[in-house]
Amino acid sequence: MSVPLTIAVDGPAASGKGTISRRIAVRYGLRHLDTGLLYRAVAMLCAAEGIDTTDAEASGARAAMLHPSDLERGDLRSAEAGRGASVVAAHGTVREALLGWQRAFADRAPGAVLDGRDIGTVVLPQARAKLFVTADPDVRAARRWRELSKDRDIPYRDVLRDIEERDARDAGRADAPMTRAGDAALLDTTEMGIEAAVDEAVRLIERQLGR
Ligand code: CDP
Repeated sequence: MSVPLTIAVDGPAASGKGTISRRIAVRYGLRHLDTGLLYRAVAMLCAAEGIDTTDAEASGARAAMLHPSDLERGDLRSAEAGRGASVVAAHGTVREALLGWQRAFADRAPGAVLDGRDIGTVVLPQARAKLFVTADPDVRAARRWRELSKDRDIPYRDVLRDIEERDARDAGRADAPMTRAGDAALLDTTEMGIEAAVDEAVRLIERQLGR
């Protein structure tokens, strides 16, 4: 049987990595896992069950019991879930509990695109292709504000502050910090629409696949 094709896409909030990853998965006929959803689900389950998200042992134990149906909760895209996710994601206990899940997903034929913060560095260091997708913080905040303000009134400055705080927490943590893998191609989407970003992502991946 052929070796599964794995593609790692990392980057900060609202960089475009989610949309790019979904489109790449379709193009290469691969499955897609948005790994941020795992951390978001752990945070929201802890909140619902009265578990202190700053307690590494308790949130790690909850992460170990995560069920696939937990990823279908309706509240995972909220700003609260994003914030909570970056708190539980700083615990080594939580990251360890979710590692096997992510690798098992990637290992099944025909392979997968995983997007997150540490896919190219920790989860799939042997991925066949790796991208680090980024964009200027104010551009990312404007994109996220447009998404979130469809459902409710939310000041732009709150969204920007949230993104800056999350960037700092994700890049500054000791365990699996968000960082570009040495062999990841950099894709800056600041001045790109989604079509241009996907085209560029495919070009960078094709080059890494030696095509
Ligand atoms: O969609 P957005 O980029 O806003 O967030 P996300 O990808 O859903 O991730 C939410 C939070 O989960 C991030 O801020 C990280 O703290 C954490 N995360 C992580 O630590 N490692 C991953 N592989 C994915 C997400």
